[in-house]
Amino acid sequence: MSLPLPSLDHEPADDLAALCKAAGDPLRLQVLRALANDSFGVLELAQIFAIGQSGMSHHLKVLAQAGLLATRREGNAVFYRRALPGGALHAALLEELDRLPVPDNLQARIRAVHGQRAEASREFFARMASNFQAQQDLIASLAQYRDSLLSLLDALPLTRQATALEVGPGDGAFLPELARRFAQVSALDNSPAMLELARQRCEREGLGNVQLQLADALQQPHSPVDCVVLNMVLHHFAAPAEAMRQLSPLINSGGHLLITELCSHNQAWAREACGDLWLGFEQDDLARWAEAAGLRVGESLYLGLKNGFQIQVRHFAKP
Ligand SMILES: C[S@@+](CC[C@H](N)C(=O)[O-])C[C@H]1O[C@@H](n2cnc3c(N)ncnc32)[C@H](O)[C@@H]1O
Repeated sequence: MSLPLPSLDHEPADDLAALCKAAGDPLRLQVLRALANDSFGVLELAQIFAIGQSGMSHHLKVLAQAGLLATRREGNAVFYRRALPGGALHAALLEELDRLPVPDNLQARIRAVHGQRAEASREFFARMASNFQAQQDLIASLAQYRDSLLSLLDALPLTRQATALEVGPGDGAFLPELARRFAQVSALDNSPAMLELARQRCEREGLGNVQLQLADALQQPHSPVDCVVLNMVLHHFAAPAEAMRQLSPLINSGGHLLITELCSHNQAWAREACGDLWLGFEQDDLARWAEAAGLRVGESLYLGLKNGFQIQVRHFAKP
């Protein structure tokens, strides 16, 4: 008696074969390596790997069809990032890949793309300082999330000697709140024009315990503080996951990180109008990046705004 022919229908083994096939290419493995903690558009990846856009699109399609990549549309652009592992082989592949050193030239090319993103952000704030408040009001202003942020801040177990660092204070509107609650406050902003607005506010309000510094918060060494605050800043960073890892050492053990951010949105005009590099963030992404930076996820508050944007106010604790 002859055995029945194997079914030609889609089988779970097909998925495994697609995964093996997609991973069976050194360039595609390097793409996955580059996407460990970042997401890139096809043009950026073509630049990083010095190949044509259509060649890169093909590789990305193979990786996405095998379930190794996920895509995120940001306005007209599509960003690629690693998909969360759906099985043991997928998880083992990423684990093994992350143990390999990233070649120097790949690191340098990734840094160049980050540099281009950061430069676009710096240029925006140099141009827009005179119109800053109006730009902020287009999306989300401090008045809309101040109370929520303060309710999280005031629930933290902080002593009277506690110190704070605000990254990207902009025109310094939140500095008076920090100055009232902390013994010493420092604020780092890499835009001279924005820092000047913050300086004027500190002078107007007589904030004697606030120290302002013109610096890129991701490059400037700073002694650790008890609370680091970023309001609407992370979406201006070239590599937000990496930024959280760089900021983590600035927090004392037992200290806190407070982040106010937009939730993921699709309003691409924010790139042009407000210089946003990222159209908000998924709540899970922030949590994952914080955990990878050695922080524990704390309380979160979510606010819907009338203009359709959603804000997330997040607390992360340094164990
Ligand atoms: C959208 S504004 C937010 C200002 C303020 N936190 C608020 O909520 O109104 C972003 C600020 O972050 C600053 N910034 C962006 N990248 C930075 C970096 N790498 N280091 C320090 N400041 C940065 C910009 O200059 C700008 O002042």
